[in-house]
Amino acid sequence: MTSDDGSSSAADRLSTAPDAPPAAVCRRVRKTYRTATESVTALDDVTVDIPRAQVTVVVGPSGSGKSSLLRLLACIDSPDAGEVLVAGQRVDRLGARARRALRQRQVAYLFQRPGENLLPYLDAVAQVRLAASLRGAPVTAAAALALLDRLGLRERADHHPAQLSGGEQQRLAVACGVVGEPALVVADEPTAELDTAAAERVLVAMEDLAAAGVGFVISSHDPRVMAIADGFVRLDHGRLVAS
Ligand SMILES: Nc1ncnc2c1ncn2[C@@H]1O[C@H](COP(=O)(O)OP(=O)(O)O)[C@@H](O)[C@H]1O
Ligand SMILES: [Mg+2]
Repeated sequence: MTSDDGSSSAADRLSTAPDAPPAAVCRRVRKTYRTATESVTALDDVTVDIPRAQVTVVVGPSGSGKSSLLRLLACIDSPDAGEVLVAGQRVDRLGARARRALRQRQVAYLFQRPGENLLPYLDAVAQVRLAASLRGAPVTAAAALALLDRLGLRERADHHPAQLSGGEQQRLAVACGVVGEPALVVADEPTAELDTAAAERVLVAMEDLAAAGVGFVISSHDPRVMAIADGFVRLDHGRLVAS
């Protein structure tokens, strides 16, 4: 399977095929944190489906398990029970190397602090190109520029993170997240540090890019984030609350 122009790999086309598996699935997951003195069950019997081409928003009070769920979906952490599938693959059945490869190819994770998502010594174009290469789907400078243009960052293409506002940094992080078409982009409270105008531009970018086939899962208390949701996951004390 090769494309005529070589611009998209078989895996890329697979990811947007109508019968492609969901971006990610958690089935009956449980996560317990144990310290010397106590054990906290952060997630208890949680089943969620993160579809492609949609924005799923995870809501719930502080301590309800949102970040724990996002870390499982992003393959940063493993459940104590239950299954996690990313792009149709059972994460727990993979060895360390295959799991790392799956995460690298199929998952992007965005931190709340925009600066933490970027490398200080690379300009915006180089940042996007590095993210694409690490995902095994290198892009030309022109393609990186086109993506930045779509996110309103054309004038910032040769700027380093320190020269960008928080909102611009977060849009650049979104560009790095979606380039190379991963199945899943995970963002833990991505607008918490942004003012309204900047948050809205980040969210419009996410909404626009989700339509191309990536599954976004975003945790937030922010009503602005809820406004772009195609679906919700509600948590309370680590349990799923019926919508
Ligand atoms: N590394 C950890 N060690 C111990 N307890 C943790 C750890 N991470 C989270 N918790 C606890 O798990 C519960 C869920 O936390 P978290 O997933 O961060 O919730 P949220 O993101 O909704 O605020 C909380 O009670 C929290 O204190
Ligand atoms: Mg959290």
